[in-house]
Amino acid sequence: MDVVEVVVKDRFRRMARMAQSWVFDNEIAEVHGAPQAGDIVWAAMRGGRPLGYAFYNPHSKIRLRLLHTEDYPTRDFWVGRLERALQLRQRSMEIEPEGMFRWVYGESDYLPGLILDVFGSYAVVQILSAGMERQKAVIVEAIRHIMPSLKGIVAKNDVAIRRKEGLPLYEIVEWGEVPQSWWCREHGIRYNIAPLGGQKTGFFLDQRCNRLHIRPYCRDKTVLDAYCNQGGFGLNALQAGARKVWFVDSSAKALEKVRSNLQANGFSPDRAELVREDVFAFLQERTESQRWDVVIVDPPAFAKDRAHIASAHRGYRRLYRQALRVLKSDGILAAASCSYYVEEASLIGLLREEAYRQGRDVRIIHRGTHPPDHPIHPWMEQTSYLKFFIAYCPLRP
Ligand SMILES: C[S@@+](CC[C@H](N)C(=O)[O-])C[C@H]1O[C@@H](n2cnc3c(N)ncnc32)[C@H](O)[C@@H]1O
Repeated sequence: MDVVEVVVKDRFRRMARMAQSWVFDNEIAEVHGAPQAGDIVWAAMRGGRPLGYAFYNPHSKIRLRLLHTEDYPTRDFWVGRLERALQLRQRSMEIEPEGMFRWVYGESDYLPGLILDVFGSYAVVQILSAGMERQKAVIVEAIRHIMPSLKGIVAKNDVAIRRKEGLPLYEIVEWGEVPQSWWCREHGIRYNIAPLGGQKTGFFLDQRCNRLHIRPYCRDKTVLDAYCNQGGFGLNALQAGARKVWFVDSSAKALEKVRSNLQANGFSPDRAELVREDVFAFLQERTESQRWDVVIVDPPAFAKDRAHIASAHRGYRRLYRQALRVLKSDGILAAASCSYYVEEASLIGLLREEAYRQGRDVRIIHRGTHPPDHPIHPWMEQTSYLKFFIAYCPLRP
C-alpha cells in the first residue's frame, strides 16, 4: 500500500510525542506527496524517528491527528480501541438499565475526532475530524459488533467545528431504526432523548456527577435551575425533596422536554414553574420578594475561543452578580462553566468579588468537572473544559 510520509519539525514537543495527538500546520517540515483530507499518512520526526500513522488534513490547522500505532489501522485496530474505551467506562461507572454514557471521548481514547454516546438501546456518533469521517462505515460496523444489543445509530454531525475540517454539517440515522424520541435514565430519573433536531448528542452527559452533588442542599428548599435545558439539575433537586423548582431556558424545545420529564417522573406540576426567557432578563426582572434558597447557573460557553476570554469574564461576572442578588441570605449557588478558555480560578475570583460587593461571604463547598466517561488526557488540555463549583454564600456577619 502506498502511504505518504509527513515529516514533523523538531519543535513538536519531545515529551509529548508519546501521548499528544495533534500536530499543527506550523510543525510540519515536509510532505512527500499530496495527501487528501482524511487520508491516513505515515508521520515521522526529522531524522526518521516514527510517530506512526496519522489522519492528515491539508485544510485544517490541526494538520495531523496521530493514531499512536505503527501498524496500519485495520478494522481490528478500531475494534480494539473501541473495546478499550468501553472497558474503561465499565470499570469507572455503574451503567444503569436504559442508562446513558459517553463510550468514546475523542483524543482521550486515542480515537481522534470521534465522540460516541450511548442512550439505552441507541448510540449517537459525532465525528469532528476528516480522517474519522472516512472511517465512519468501519466504526459503525465495529460499534454494532461490540454492542450487538443496539437497535440503531445516529450520526449527529451538525456541529460548526466540523467546518474547520472542511466537513459538511448533517444529521442522519446511520444504521437501524431510530425513533424520534425515547426514554433513558440517569440516577434513577427518566429523560426523553431526541438527538435528531436536539442540542448536543441528545443530552448533557457531562453534568452527570454534578447533578447528584446538588441534592443534599435541596430538601424543602426553593431552587432556581437557570439554563436548565431538559431540567437535569432541577429534576435532581425535586428528587431530593425540593419544595419547588423554577426551570428557566430560552429554548422552547428544551422546556417541552422538562414538561414531559416532570410528568414521566411523577413530579406534581405544582412543584415546578417553567419559564422561557433569557436568563439575564429573568434575573434582572426579579423583585425583592423573589429569592431562592438554591440557585444553579449552567450557561452555554461564553468563550468559544481565546479572543473572547475578556468578554466571557464580563459575562460570568454579570451572571454571578445577578444570581447572588436573587439568592436568599443563607443561600447556595451552584455554578458551571463549559468554556475551556476560562479558568476555574478566574471564575472563583469573579464570584468572590461580586459576593464581596453584595456584603456576602463565599465558601466553596464542592468542586467538580466532567464524569469518568469524559476522561481528561493530561497531554491534551482541550479534553478538560467543564468547571463546576457549589458555593455557600451567606451574608457577612
Ligand atoms: C449547558 S446547557 C445547560 C445544561 C443543563 N443544565 C443540563 O444539566 O442538562 C445551556 C442551556 O442554556 C440555554 N440557553 C442558551 N442561551 C440562553 C439564554 N440567553 N437564556 C436562557 N437559556 C439559554 C440553552 O438552550 C441550553 O439549554
